[in-house]
Amino acid sequence: MRREPTAPGLSRRNLLGGAAAGAVAVAAGSTLLPRPASATDAAPSQAYAFEGAHQQGILTPSQAQAVYVALDVTAGSKKELAGLFREITSTARALTTGGTPPDAGLGAPPADSGVLGPVVPSDGLTITASVGASLFDDRFGLAASKPARLRRMEDFPNDNLDRAMCDGDLLLQICGHHQDTTLHALREITRATRGAMQVRWRRDGFHSPPRPAGSSRNLMGFRDGTANPSTGDTSLMDELVWTRSGADEPAWVDGGSYHVVRQIRMLVEFWDRISIREQENIFGRRRDSGAPLTGSKEKDVPDYAADPSGEVIQMDAHIRLANPRTAHAKKQQILRRGYNYDAGTDANGNLDMGLIFTCFNADLERQFVAIQKRLADEPLVDYVSPVGGGYFFALPGVRDHQDWLGRRLLT
Ligand code: HEM
Repeated sequence: MRREPTAPGLSRRNLLGGAAAGAVAVAAGSTLLPRPASATDAAPSQAYAFEGAHQQGILTPSQAQAVYVALDVTAGSKKELAGLFREITSTARALTTGGTPPDAGLGAPPADSGVLGPVVPSDGLTITASVGASLFDDRFGLAASKPARLRRMEDFPNDNLDRAMCDGDLLLQICGHHQDTTLHALREITRATRGAMQVRWRRDGFHSPPRPAGSSRNLMGFRDGTANPSTGDTSLMDELVWTRSGADEPAWVDGGSYHVVRQIRMLVEFWDRISIREQENIFGRRRDSGAPLTGSKEKDVPDYAADPSGEVIQMDAHIRLANPRTAHAKKQQILRRGYNYDAGTDANGNLDMGLIFTCFNADLERQFVAIQKRLADEPLVDYVSPVGGGYFFALPGVRDHQDWLGRRLLT
């Protein structure tokens, strides 16, 4: 497997950022040689297919580690933008497949940072590229091709958005089994594309192992992800996740998906001081088992018909507002793929941690926005504070070796 040379349209001078030219030239033209997984690997060599109708990292089961990085494009023309996307594609293809970086010789900077050792394991790595509304401004002449629902993320009631941590021309969601794998990928992508885009904001996340079983827990101690629609149900995914062209959507969007990211800080010091009964009423589920308060097992379906006035699961419980289980709400379901985050402590010594809420949906308005509006004044808002994120559109998949991310948008 090969890292293709710098794509036409992305000028090497621009790409390399002047003085660092030597270092990046090697990365941009480097080759990773594939090799079979071996029992001596330090990390598992599980590889997810890079090519397909849809990108990886959407239906893929959540890996343990994630990097969300939003970038602003500094490329100067549509041609250079296409070069950037080709470069992202070839680097992502190489990294997610794994292999041996070439020997650049003693006189040159090494072809790879070496963080993962001499042979780069695929390690369950997925790299998912999504575009933000600002990419469709007047810089590249793409306004007429903007996905119909894509826009700058609005402030919802109770949001405390730091605009420096919001939006961006591009979002890369990098997930893998280990943190060194995701950080290595971030580093290789940023060096291969230097001069054509720059980081706007970044948030790293982790996914806990089941404790002791079932869906993994968020940092409020509750199992998260239980009621997600089944990713194995292809027709359901067609209805809920994949955006279709036609009506008001442009032709190129087929197979892509609206990608929502909300960085939601949890005010854990306050949360940890309320009773377990109050915590469970806020979500409508038991903390230990994850069962709805009307049931006994995690996967039991909440029984709102038997509880019409909210005696058991209160009417404003998170799960009841998020999905009242009506025929209408069925069409609004989203595919959540969140990660916990830890950002250390704030200036006052408070713990800075929370949820990188992420979801995919075919229609931003009909699905995510409708749910978010219903959640506006839920009791949970006293214990969380949305601080960043954005609306993006996950590009359709890379079909074959000739194809590249964004080709149908840019050609
Ligand atoms: C820090 C913020 C949040 C926390 C801690 C949180 C936590 C949870 C928990 C524990 C569940 C129950 C288990 C499950 O089905 O996954 C749940 C369900 C759900 N949440 Fe959230 N959530 C948060 C934000 C959001 C946001 C922003 C949305 C969408 C706008 C959302 C939408 C949903 C949906 C659709 C369900 C499934 C409800 C069902 O089908 O029964 N959540 N959430």
